[in-house]
Amino acid sequence: MTATARPPATPRPPATAPSTDTALPGPAGDPLLGMALPLRRDLLGTLHAGFARYGDVVAYRVGPARGPHRLVVALHHPDDVRRFFADTEAFTRRTASYRAVRELFGRNIATAEGDDWRRQKRLLQPLLTRAAASRYAAVIEEEAHAAVERLGREPATTIDALRTTERYALRVLSRTLFGDDRGIDDDTVAALERLIPVVSRQMPARAKQTVRLPLAWPTPRNRRFAATRSALHATIERVLARAPEGDGPGLLSQLRAARDPAGGEPLSEREIRDQALMFLLAGYTTTSAALCSTLQLLGCHPEAQEQVAAGGEQWADAAVQEGLRLYPPSYVLGRRVGAGGAEVAGRTLPPGTGVLVSPWVTHRHPGFWRDPERFDPSRFADAHARDERPQHAWFPFGGGARACIGRHLSLAESRSFVRALLERCRIESLDADMPMDQLSTIRPSRPVRIRCRPR
Ligand code: HEM
Repeated sequence: MTATARPPATPRPPATAPSTDTALPGPAGDPLLGMALPLRRDLLGTLHAGFARYGDVVAYRVGPARGPHRLVVALHHPDDVRRFFADTEAFTRRTASYRAVRELFGRNIATAEGDDWRRQKRLLQPLLTRAAASRYAAVIEEEAHAAVERLGREPATTIDALRTTERYALRVLSRTLFGDDRGIDDDTVAALERLIPVVSRQMPARAKQTVRLPLAWPTPRNRRFAATRSALHATIERVLARAPEGDGPGLLSQLRAARDPAGGEPLSEREIRDQALMFLLAGYTTTSAALCSTLQLLGCHPEAQEQVAAGGEQWADAAVQEGLRLYPPSYVLGRRVGAGGAEVAGRTLPPGTGVLVSPWVTHRHPGFWRDPERFDPSRFADAHARDERPQHAWFPFGGGARACIGRHLSLAESRSFVRALLERCRIESLDADMPMDQLSTIRPSRPVRIRCRPR
C-alpha cells in the first residue's frame, strides 16, 4: 500500500454536548459485516481512506447494522493521540492483540498491567535510559563498521537491505544482551530467522480470530501456535544458558542484578526469560525494518543522501527519524475503552469500544506535515520545524508512560549504521517502491535491492 490521499482541513469541529450514541462519522460498509472485511484485508489502506474522507475521528462498525456489532474508532489528531497514550483508564491494553503477545511472550513489561507493570518498569527503565543506552555506543559503532566492511570493496555491490539490516540488528542486540562479543551463536541466529516471520504472522492472525479457543484445545491452529511458543522458549533458554554469570555490562546480567527500589525484590528467572524474549522480538524486527526503509529512501533521494552524508550525527539522526515517519514499523496501535467509557470528539465511547491510532496515517497528516509523502530529513534536522510540531504528530515509539523502552538503543543503532554506510558508499535503490506486508510490524514484502558504490 503506497497510495496517499488529501484529508479535509485540520481545525477541529466545536465540541457538542456529550451523548451516548456515538454517531461518529465513518463508512457504512456492508449491511451484515460492516467494515470487518476491509479492516481485515487492508487495515492501513482502510484507515487512510477513512481519514481522507472523514477526517481526524472515524468510526468503523464490525458486524450487522441491525443487531449486535462492535465499534472501532480511529483517532488521527495529535491531541487525541496524546490522550490515547496518557489516559490508561479510558484506553486500556485489554485487547486481543496484547492477549496474543502475552500468550507467546509471557508476562513482561510490555504485557503486564497495573502494579505489576509499575514494578517491572522500576526494575527495567534504568537499564535503557538514554544514558544507559549510550554505554553500548562503542559496541554499536563496531558492529556498524563491521557490517559495512562485510559489503566488501567491489566497485558496486547489490545488497538485500532487509537481510543486511536484520543481521546487523541481531548482532547488536545479542552483544548488548550479552555485553561481550560472543553474542548469539549461529544456531540461535538461524532459529530466530526461522521463527520471527512465523511469529509475525501467527500473532496478528490469533488476535483477528473471531472465535479464539483456549490454547489448551488441541486444534491444528492452536498446536502450531503452541509449537512456536515452545520453539521461542527453547531458543531463549539456550541464550540464557550461555549468558555470563554475575555482574556484567550486558542487559542479561543487569536483568539478573536488578532489584526493585521499592522493596529490593529481584525479577524471577521466568520474568528474566520473558523480558529477554520481548527485547529480542520487540527490538529486532522493528529496528531492522526501520533502518531498511531509511536506506531505501536515501537510495531514492541522492540529494538528501549527500546532505546526510555531509551532515554528521545530526543529519543521520534526522534521516532515521524521517524514515520512521514514512515507514513506522508499529503502524497501528490498539486499545479497548475501559469500564468508565472514553470521551472523544464530544462523544462518549461505550466500554469495550476498540480504539486505534496509526503512526502511518498521522505521520501523513497535512495539517502537520507539508507535502507529507516527500522524504525530507530537514523536517527533523531543523530545530525550529521540529519545535513547531505538536509532540504527537510523530510517535513511532508510542507515547506516555508506556512509550518504547528501547527507543534510545534503536535510534543509536540506526544512526551509526547510516553514518558508517554513507561514509564509505553512495547508495542507489534499484526499485522505486517498497511494498509492505502488514504483520505484527510492517515488513517489506520482497527483497529491498540497494546498490552500494564506494565513495
Ligand atoms: C524502530 C524500533 C522500534 C520501534 C518502532 C518500537 C515501537 C514501539 C512502540 C510503538 C511501543 C508502544 C506500544 C503501545 O503503546 O502499544 C513500544 C513499546 C516497547 N518497546 Fe519498542 N520499538 C522499537 C525498538 C525497541 C527495542 C530496541 C526494544 C528493546 C531493546 C524495545 C522494547 C520495547 C518494550 C519492552 C516496550 C513496552 C514498554 C511498556 O509497555 O512499558 N523496542 N515499542
